[in-house]
Amino acid sequence: MSTTTKTSKTEHRITVRSLERFKSANQPITMMTAYDFCFAQLFDRAGIDVLLVGDSLANVVQGRETTLPVTCEEMIYHTKMVSRGASRSLVVADMPFGSYQGALTEGVQNAIALVKEGGAHAVKLEGGRSMHEVIARIVGAEIPVMGHVGLTPQSVHKMGGYRVQGRGITGRERIIEDARAVQEAGAFAVVLEGVPQDLAAAITDELVIPTIGIGAGVECDGQVLVMHDLLGLNEGAPSFVKQYARLGAETLKATRNFIDEVRERKFPDPEHSYE
Ligand code: KIV
Repeated sequence: MSTTTKTSKTEHRITVRSLERFKSANQPITMMTAYDFCFAQLFDRAGIDVLLVGDSLANVVQGRETTLPVTCEEMIYHTKMVSRGASRSLVVADMPFGSYQGALTEGVQNAIALVKEGGAHAVKLEGGRSMHEVIARIVGAEIPVMGHVGLTPQSVHKMGGYRVQGRGITGRERIIEDARAVQEAGAFAVVLEGVPQDLAAAITDELVIPTIGIGAGVECDGQVLVMHDLLGLNEGAPSFVKQYARLGAETLKATRNFIDEVRERKFPDPEHSYE
């Protein structure tokens, strides 16, 4: 079978190489989370570069306190839906807590499952120096890896809460070393979360691979937001979030209108009924 034939589905696909080129051309990379077919299709049509099937689905889809309970099966289930909706965007699936911190072979197998069963083009995992070996092994299995350093939600108990990382000389040096380790291990990009903007700028300047920031200032090579925060579906979003829509309020309004019209026997009217 020829491997050079391009199908219409892959012709304009954003790839890990595209992100490399974006960094060289100083073209900011856009990334958003998505967890299902409907939103993935909309974000893809809007032109988002990367769709992240984030383990943040624990919070915004499953209503959990932390991302820790998410399983590989759940990530695969959501990744399948997002992959079906994405014809142009690069689909990156988060490796959930416990799926890569143990035996190296288990980490590689779980990454393979996200690609093979879920249809992801790449995986993301949290951690820096301590994850060097597993990143290298997954890359060695031909799967592109996106790193994630700084505020890593899977380390919530070790960090003592969700707090900005990389403050002070030692904290700063630790995050720089984590970012270097991720690059050195072969990752194609790295998420910088919850770090001071000057630190994110310094890392972005030093690394060859693109940095994608969340709560890390404007100097990163790209930006990512959780879709529920960006679309205003969440109440009480963190201060670094900008809400580009108020879909939560719109949903309440539409639902209340429906309730009122049903109770007043205004819906369905003749236009919405069969003869
Ligand atoms: O799970 C997630 O949504 C993430 C982003 C916040 C980067 O990791």
